[in-house]
Amino acid sequence: MKLVRAIREMREVRAPLDAPFGFVPTMGALHAGHLSLVRRARDLCPRVGASIFVNPAQFNDKRDLERYPRTLERDLEMLRGAGCEVVFAPEPSEIYPDGFSTSIDVGPVARPLEGAMRPGHFNGVAVVVTKLLNIVRPTHAVFGQKDAQQLAVIRRMVRDLDLPVEIVAGPTMREADGLAMSSRNALLTAEDRAAAPIVWQALSAVGDAYSRGERDAGLLRGLMSGVLSRERRALPEYVSVADPVTLVELEQIGPAGALVSLAVKFGAVRLIDNVVLGPR
Ligand code: PAJ
Repeated sequence: MKLVRAIREMREVRAPLDAPFGFVPTMGALHAGHLSLVRRARDLCPRVGASIFVNPAQFNDKRDLERYPRTLERDLEMLRGAGCEVVFAPEPSEIYPDGFSTSIDVGPVARPLEGAMRPGHFNGVAVVVTKLLNIVRPTHAVFGQKDAQQLAVIRRMVRDLDLPVEIVAGPTMREADGLAMSSRNALLTAEDRAAAPIVWQALSAVGDAYSRGERDAGLLRGLMSGVLSRERRALPEYVSVADPVTLVELEQIGPAGALVSLAVKFGAVRLIDNVVLGPR
């Protein structure tokens, strides 16, 4: 497996490799969820690459950026084991040289939920993903359903800008107690880690109610809030039942189904999770 630091070298390594080429962008601190995306890419493409770049532009909170876990050696071992051929891990100055000023506003889909709680976050994601796609030029890029709004924003952007890549979604990998795997889980205190499965319990309660025929979105949001209120360590930022493509909040769940999502703070750590109801 090749470790590449410079854009020019990444282009040189990629140029002779035949399509299809699968790509998994990450910020490192890898876990089984990330590796499941690499496996998904390998199912689709004979050659697979990944990137590790803690993207300053998508952190609206400086402390969050500083304490983001960085475990490069371990990450490289894991990617090698998963069959990755090349890893692009640039320095911030390589991606954002002096004078860099472009921003990408993907529009309404980037505004609610995470977009509202983290101003500028999706502009930073859109810029870095566009740059990574331009540098690596994959035929397929795999993103996790775990970050459902990010996936929706990237799908919208790729369609709107005619970027020549197929966006593939990978399912959310979870711990045995239902907690969605996340690099941020390592930052939870022992007490908060023990409390965190309430997030999955809230989503599961909505899934169960939907299976029993409940379609009233307001009632389902209330159900989620009710479950979360049983855990005093859980401080909800939002609970949402929205259209799965536009992310507009629903009153009733119709044939298009719904994206049910939430953000919950445990101490200084913010966790997000979601489930998709109905057709994908
Ligand atoms: P990061 O948080 O490292 O996540 C990289 C990819 O892994 C994303 O597509 C994310 O949705 C996926 N992922 C995270 N947890 C997962 C889980 N439990 N199961 C399955 N997939 C999971 O998302 C980013 O980085 C950045 O915003 C990035 C797209 C790299 C742009 O900087």
